[in-house]
Amino acid sequence: MARWIILICLLVSIVEARRHRNQFNVRNYKPIANGKNDDTRAFLSAWGDACKSRGRASVVVPEGQYLLNPIVFSGPCRALVTFELKGTLIAPANNPSPSNTTWLNFRYLNQLTVNGGGLLDGQGPLAWGLKGGNPLLISLGFAFINNSNINNIRSSNSQNAHISMFQCANITFSNLNITAPGHSPNTDGIKMAQSEGININHVHISTGDDCVAMLSGTKNVNISNVYCGPGHGISVGSFGHNSDEFDIEEIFVKNCTFKDTTNGLRIKTWASPLNHPLKASNIVYEDITMIDVFHPINIDQEYCPRRNCGIKVPSRVQISDVKYRNIHGTCKGDVAVTFKCSASNPCQNISTENIDLRRKGNHHHHRQKPLRNFCSNVHGVSHGKQKPQACV
Ligand SMILES: *[C@@H]1O[C@H](CO)[C@@H](O)[C@H](O)[C@H]1NC(C)=O
Ligand SMILES: *[C@@H]1O[C@H](CO)[C@@H](O)[C@H](O)[C@H]1NC(C)=O
Ligand SMILES: *[C@@H]1O[C@H](CO)[C@@H](O)[C@H](O)[C@H]1NC(C)=O
Ligand SMILES: *[C@@H]1O[C@H](CO)[C@@H](O)[C@H](O)[C@H]1NC(C)=O
Ligand SMILES: *[C@@H]1O[C@H](CO)[C@@H](O)[C@H](O)[C@H]1NC(C)=O
Ligand SMILES: *[C@@H]1O[C@H](CO)[C@@H](O)[C@H](O)[C@H]1NC(C)=O
Ligand SMILES: *[C@@H]1O[C@H](CO)[C@@H](O)[C@H](O)[C@H]1NC(C)=O
Repeated sequence: MARWIILICLLVSIVEARRHRNQFNVRNYKPIANGKNDDTRAFLSAWGDACKSRGRASVVVPEGQYLLNPIVFSGPCRALVTFELKGTLIAPANNPSPSNTTWLNFRYLNQLTVNGGGLLDGQGPLAWGLKGGNPLLISLGFAFINNSNINNIRSSNSQNAHISMFQCANITFSNLNITAPGHSPNTDGIKMAQSEGININHVHISTGDDCVAMLSGTKNVNISNVYCGPGHGISVGSFGHNSDEFDIEEIFVKNCTFKDTTNGLRIKTWASPLNHPLKASNIVYEDITMIDVFHPINIDQEYCPRRNCGIKVPSRVQISDVKYRNIHGTCKGDVAVTFKCSASNPCQNISTENIDLRRKGNHHHHRQKPLRNFCSNVHGVSHGKQKPQACV
């Protein structure tokens, strides 16, 4: 009997030791951890040790405040690394280098996990007002990352976008809380380019720009249970402005809520002369609630965020196979549905089914003018309820 107990204790302690051997706690790398002095060196050392260990390894960031300058957590790694953030990371209000555009960079990794419930504090309020300094920092950047999970992290007041992805594949984002004031400049929630196989699930986004922006070369994205507001909505684009862009396709947005946003479901392309045609196709929006949204449904192929966009030619982006199904709620503007498509490449196969949008406020008020739609160069079909009246 005693022998068995000793054996079991031995096994448990071996397992424990293995587990701990693969935990790299940044506290063991002598950070200052006062939120004011730079802890980049301690984090890089912890990352380096985790990366070159074997099996599964985690970089653990316990509770506390850590100021980090722009930093790269780079692979390839021998271990499969988890970045477990329990504490708060604080960005430098003054970006020290003109060549750094992203604060926390993860690159060249497979099977990365980022979790822990901690907070990324971008220090936006101190940075937004700075004139002519170094670039405002994107808080969290993923580049060349595959098969990874970003889960249970909070991001507040990023200086630029909160999260960005470039050339990533098979990434899941879930249980994130992203917050910045509605008036904050360029603070996209999650933006991505040249990425595919992206899942965004149970994410709460309140920010000053797009909640989600799917840019050039984005494919196979599922977005569900996302709350957006304030913000500029969930956007395909903007794109169709530069000659090095790629198609956007297979986007599925389901069971999302928009509250007090400028736009809801938006596709935006520039009216720009491109040397090659582009497509945005196979986009499905389903079970969407709008609460006091200015432009709930909006295809804008004359996108021009600044006053003067130069030469006016019809957009060369071909939009096709876009389905809007079960979209209901309230609209703050007069035009609930806008399909402003390209004269040279009219929108094809646009389908609207069960659209039920009414004016914000008291809907028993009969003197209010009904909501309108705006349609140009659009072809498609409609089924079921259509409020406002359909134009396809
Ligand atoms: C910041 O810029 C410096 C100088 O160009 C560069 O060496 C460093 O890798 C950059 N860091 C990040 C996080 O991009
Ligand atoms: C990610 O996947 C792409 C496409 O399969 C591949 O070229 C790249 O090497 C992978 N990157 C990593 C870090 O595994
Ligand atoms: C992404 O996942 C799919 C399906 O599981 C898989 O076939 C593909 O190889 C993965 N992509 C990368 C780059 O690992
Ligand atoms: C997200 O964070 C904000 C600000 O920290 C907080 O007020 C809000 O309750 C959080 N929302 C969720 C869904 O966790
Ligand atoms: C998105 O959902 C569709 C159908 O539900 C599925 O075929 C596809 O693989 C999913 N994509 C991702 C990235 O999970
Ligand atoms: C859809 O969203 C609502 C609230 O936003 C949530 O209560 C419900 O569980 C979601 N449905 C599914 C199937 O995820
Ligand atoms: C429109 O959809 C139908 C059926 O899904 C398909 O056969 C057709 O090719 C589509 N047309 C265009 C222009 O995409």
